[in-house]
Amino acid sequence: MFKKKKGLTAVFLIACMSLFLAACGGQEAGGKKSGSGGGDKLVGGTEATFAPFESLNDKGEIVGIDVDVLSAIAEAQGFEFELKNVGWEPVFQKITNGELDFGVAGITITDERKETYDFTEPYYQANLVIIVKEGSDIKSVDDLKDKKVAVQINTTGHKAAQDILGKSNTNIKAYENQPTAMQQVRNGSAEAAIGDNAVVFEYLKNNKNTGLKVIEDASFEKEYYGIMVKKGNKEVLDQLNEGLKKIKENGKLAEITGQELN
Ligand code: ARG
Repeated sequence: MFKKKKGLTAVFLIACMSLFLAACGGQEAGGKKSGSGGGDKLVGGTEATFAPFESLNDKGEIVGIDVDVLSAIAEAQGFEFELKNVGWEPVFQKITNGELDFGVAGITITDERKETYDFTEPYYQANLVIIVKEGSDIKSVDDLKDKKVAVQINTTGHKAAQDILGKSNTNIKAYENQPTAMQQVRNGSAEAAIGDNAVVFEYLKNNKNTGLKVIEDASFEKEYYGIMVKKGNKEVLDQLNEGLKKIKENGKLAEITGQELN
């Protein structure tokens, strides 16, 4: 008798949950359910100060490797998308609350993020580097322990700084974006910055005579970028992964990134 009652409760709970999920589904950002045009348009978010992956051109349009990868995927799959420059932390928040279908922002696939989000297969391999002033006595990760280190907030660079200096060390200075973190080394507010390699090299290419140099340290592990969706959003994830597989196979991805991913 008792057992039976328990079973019924479970059935009732599941029914409630499905109703709840159905209700939530209507508010999702894009997908098939809503979207202004009522079409298949997916809505994504990014933080566009991260050249060569995403930055704003003269017309204020978001351009870069991530946009090209996404466009190629969308073309292969036949869906439309809109990409919004919402800022780094909002990318995560807005995917969680359903305002965005996905995030593409040079986002490293990490075990911690995988607890809350799902990622596509990797589309780019990266690693962190250290940025210091030319003539600095910092030579490696070990020399950072008692230095002021600037990072972009809640990035893998931030996490690396916490691992090196200690999680709540006030010498870690966290900023909204990576260029601002590098700027701190330039103006002397920080002695080093930690950031994603391709973005650092692009910054130095675009800003001559910064007086900055790069230190590569083998202790930074390889990172892989993936497109991120809310955990369990299989529909969008499958769509992205299928397209990604196609552009890996036909050589389009390598053409865009200049990188051969296995
Ligand atoms: N790859 C690093 C991470 O995932 C940094 C990404 C920052 N991206 C950006 N568009 N600002 O933590």
